[in-house]
Amino acid sequence: MHPIRKAVFPVAGLGTRFLPATKAMPKEMLPVVDKPLIQYAVEEAYEAGIRQMIFVTGRTKRAIEDHFDTAYELENELENQAKRELLALVQRVKPDDMECVFVRQARALGLGHAVLCAKQLVGDEPFAVLLADDLMIGSPSILAQMVQQYELHRGSVIAVQDVPREQTRSYGIVVAEPLDTRISRMSGIVEKPDPLVAPSTLAVAGRYVLTSQIFDEIAAGDRGVGGEIQLTDGIARLLTKENVYAYRYDGTRYDCGSKIGFLQATVDLAMSHHEVGPAFTSWLHSR
Ligand code: G1P
Repeated sequence: MHPIRKAVFPVAGLGTRFLPATKAMPKEMLPVVDKPLIQYAVEEAYEAGIRQMIFVTGRTKRAIEDHFDTAYELENELENQAKRELLALVQRVKPDDMECVFVRQARALGLGHAVLCAKQLVGDEPFAVLLADDLMIGSPSILAQMVQQYELHRGSVIAVQDVPREQTRSYGIVVAEPLDTRISRMSGIVEKPDPLVAPSTLAVAGRYVLTSQIFDEIAAGDRGVGGEIQLTDGIARLLTKENVYAYRYDGTRYDCGSKIGFLQATVDLAMSHHEVGPAFTSWLHSR
């Protein structure tokens, strides 16, 4: 069985929900307390043993490349000023054994299309997909839990959670047969169904471990919901050929693609932050 060595981060989206903040800055660079969203996702993948990070970028995303690049001037400056902790903090953004690769999605044709852009770089091996908008906190990391499930069941694993029925229109919704408390075998998946027709309330969170067969299945499909090439439609075809598993992750997901989710993440992570946590918490309680 092939280990999961590569992660794909689709980061070409426009981030219109955060305008004007995202007019000149990628939404994935929005900081939750002191770290950009994309770094949380990369750290999660690293914790799962992944060392090759593949970013599918678009226009105005240079800041992401710079973030994971060496910052010589900054590092020199910190070294000269003997600011060792800050220097270590900056250098930890990209550990020496981590490789970052960038590929452009020339046109924003949907999540499935973004994943397809990474086909050559991923090649013929299983890989992970992380949507940085979904900030996932768990111990072990959500992706590490999923890699474990992949090793156990030897098939694609999709992270899921229960949502209120009125929210099915925001998610991929799966039909699955429980095998255990957290793991189910999927028999169907549909993108953003109306609550009246949604086949369940089990929703896809932005974490996937996929076999490379997914590329053919995405390529074989037409445009789906919203005129986009959907990853969900590729998974729907994949599960007619291979076992695909839905995994109820153990942890918390913040939908940082929405303002409310972003604010919730900020408050929770600020409260538990090693430096500002106690002061922030007591300020919050005094309000
Ligand atoms: C994407 C997927 C959807 C999934 C969601 C999780 O939608 O298409 O299936 O449930 O991410 O965040 P988006 O939120 O990008 O519209």
